Amino acid sequence: MDLFEYQARDILEKHGVPVLGGIVATTPAEARAAAEQLGGGTVVVKAQVKIGGRGKAGGVKLAHSPEEAEARAEEILGMDIKGHTVHRVMIAEGAKIAEEYYFSVLLDRSERRYLAMASVEGGMEIEQLAVERPEALAKVPVDPTVGIDAAKAKEIVDQAGFAPEVADEVASVIQKLWAVYDGEDATLVEVNPLVRTEDGAVIALDAKVTLDTNADFRHPEHAELEDKAAADPLEAKAKELGLNYVKLDGQVGIIGNGAGLVMSTLDVVAYAGEEHGVKPANFLDIGGGANAEVMANGLDVILGDPQVKSVFVNVFGGITACDEVANGIVKALEILGDKETKPLVVRLDGNNVEEGRRILAEANHPLVTMADTMDGAAAKAAELAAAK
Ligand SMILES: Nc1ncnc2c1ncn2[C@@H]1O[C@H](COP(=O)(O)OP(=O)(O)OP(=O)(O)O)[C@@H](O)[C@H]1O
Ligand SMILES: [Mg+2]
Repeated sequence: MDLFEYQARDILEKHGVPVLGGIVATTPAEARAAAEQLGGGTVVVKAQVKIGGRGKAGGVKLAHSPEEAEARAEEILGMDIKGHTVHRVMIAEGAKIAEEYYFSVLLDRSERRYLAMASVEGGMEIEQLAVERPEALAKVPVDPTVGIDAAKAKEIVDQAGFAPEVADEVASVIQKLWAVYDGEDATLVEVNPLVRTEDGAVIALDAKVTLDTNADFRHPEHAELEDKAAADPLEAKAKELGLNYVKLDGQVGIIGNGAGLVMSTLDVVAYAGEEHGVKPANFLDIGGGANAEVMANGLDVILGDPQVKSVFVNVFGGITACDEVANGIVKALEILGDKETKPLVVRLDGNNVEEGRRILAEANHPLVTMADTMDGAAAKAAELAAAK
């Protein structure tokens, strides 16, 4: 989960990283009040969107008084930055910047460790720097079992070429940023710019933090950070029901057991759908032990998507036998009753398949078509979706 800058700021502060005061505002009047609260001096009005390049897009503006802060907020609120509408701004204390640096630590999946990056030439041109002069960006591998201790921080600072008068201070801030990364179970902590101010302080002026949601169980407090307004309502509902669901932009709803099977089902439906101009509408893995309730919940979520015209239920009986799944489908249709109005194509295979097919045949539900093969089922589901 990506955080907004103001959320990242608060987390950095919690771990002792030097940051400046920052207050969120959703209206120009609030922005003015926030600027007053910060002392009435120079502030920076910053668009809060989860996308980089805000400064270049005109989403970061200086204001020398609360009146100016109000005016700048008026301009920035409602702005579109690369497809993200600005609903809130952060009013940040203005820093007198002497130098801008760059620091990040992230999960390097391919190397199975972490990677720290640092540069004494930070700021808004960092992407360009990384491409044109990669040697100016130090890249230091971090052993996950050790993390960034004093020695590693010194190695990073040395490699990046920080001047002796800031090196110790930067190394100390880097260790605190590691405490954020490690302590919050993040997969990214990026500070750009990390600045030296005219009076010699080292401060994190902008931070991007991505949290590992697989570690949510260790951080109940992270639930509050979720941007509920931006979440897809169907995905939110699926999450509440404990379902593994991803909404896509097609017409054929898909339910299967096992992530691998569902992924292949998406491929097969995408292929079969080409002829009919339809595509998969979602990913939904009901996992093992798919009982009637789970099946009903899954169908309920999929049918809630107005774009869905047909549903393909693809189950391979393993530990959960096909007869249980078939009973699950029949009961799910009973539970849903009149809510179920879209055609269902069911393909069962594996453990106890004959009994499963017999149960479905006996139920003889008008909306259910049975198919013997995955390809056949995909073609049928695509055809039904196109016909609607
Ligand atoms: N509190 C502040 N005081 C003074 N200058 C600031 C402050 N915050 C940001 N700036 C200046 O604005 C520039 C851009 O700000 P920031 O890094 O927050 O946005 P950005 O990098 O454009 O956005 P993103 O990181 O989303 O790409 C900084 O490099 C810095 O020069
Ligand atoms: Mg930045």
